[in-house]
Amino acid sequence: MKPPVLQAEGLRVRFPGKGRRPGVTAVDDVSLHIGRGETLGLVGESGSGKSTSGRAVLRLVPLEAGRILVDGEDVTRYRGARLRRLRRQMQMVFQDPYSSLDPSAPVGASIAEPLRVHEKMTKQARRDRVEELLDLVGLRPSHADRYPYEFSGGQRQRVAIARALALHPRLIVCDEAVSALDVSTQNQVINLLEDLRERFELSYLFIAHDLAVVRHIAHRVAVMYLGRVVESGPVERVYERPAHPYTQALLSAIPVPDPKRRGAKRILLSGDLPDPSAPPPGCPFHTRCAYAMDVCKREMPAMTPIAGGGEAACHLQTTGPTLTGRPLSETEVPA
Ligand SMILES: Nc1ncnc2c1ncn2[C@@H]1O[C@H](COP(=O)(O)OP(=O)(O)OP(=O)(O)O)[C@@H](O)[C@H]1O
Ligand code: SF4
Ligand SMILES: [Mg+2]
Repeated sequence: MKPPVLQAEGLRVRFPGKGRRPGVTAVDDVSLHIGRGETLGLVGESGSGKSTSGRAVLRLVPLEAGRILVDGEDVTRYRGARLRRLRRQMQMVFQDPYSSLDPSAPVGASIAEPLRVHEKMTKQARRDRVEELLDLVGLRPSHADRYPYEFSGGQRQRVAIARALALHPRLIVCDEAVSALDVSTQNQVINLLEDLRERFELSYLFIAHDLAVVRHIAHRVAVMYLGRVVESGPVERVYERPAHPYTQALLSAIPVPDPKRRGAKRILLSGDLPDPSAPPPGCPFHTRCAYAMDVCKREMPAMTPIAGGGEAACHLQTTGPTLTGRPLSETEVPA
């Protein structure tokens, strides 16, 4: 069996404080696996560490701990030419395409830039490849001569995707790549990403705060809270039968199109995200959890396998009412 395209194990990223500002462990003991042709969704509130995890996977931020395997090969310590070669295989698409497109250059030049840096090609071959890439993302060859400001938001995101595809990557980290688009444009860009995934057997780490979008595009999902993954698993299981109270709260905040489920009890998130530079002891979610028990304030819960696939880090799965791998719907919210 082929190894996963990406195996990230126990990643930890810490940003040191400046002056009197304390440091932040933005990513703590995060493990993510993505198979060939698979999309892993990464969700969680603002500041939970999603973007930093994506950047860590691409080796764009220094790791304090953990290791990264690409196609089974340990790339954690790659430097110089080997790291540059690795970077060709892994690309990123951001919410704001201006961060990867030069506003003062025609988009053809921006799409060609990775080819100029990494591939020995004649000018004509590069021009042909740019036209091929524009065609792949549903744009016309003549678009190469236009400037980023001459495109709509959706078209600009297509240009950013074309640029990301230039070097035939295996993995693309999409960081809120469709979040700024209106719903119909969002659907078009998602359909494009899906087509490209099937066509080239691409793998995606799809970071988004919109859980409905993630359900649509991802095969599996990982839920982050204060720098940690608290639950992961196949999308169907996690969305239908969440095993972690934080996942349940996040999900109950999204509108339910199914009228039969509209009356279901909503578990709303109370309070703000705690200060990430001083996370609470024990379970980091205990200050906001409707099910919190004494043990939650003292001990960090371990990841436990959940029936139907995946795992969750919650004491309800091991102590107290002992769900042992069952979904939260089988326990009552305490009065
Ligand atoms: N370069 C940096 N220097 C210092 N702290 C940082 C840096 N980047 C991120 N952080 C901190 O790390 C934590 C995680 O940030 P990150 O951007 O990964 O969150 P996120 O889940 O992507 O949030 P959002 O949904 O708002 O994009 C936050 O507390 C943030 O303030
Ligand atoms: S471990 Fe305790 S506080 Fe944390 S999510 Fe589970 S029940 Fe809530
Ligand atoms: Mg982010």
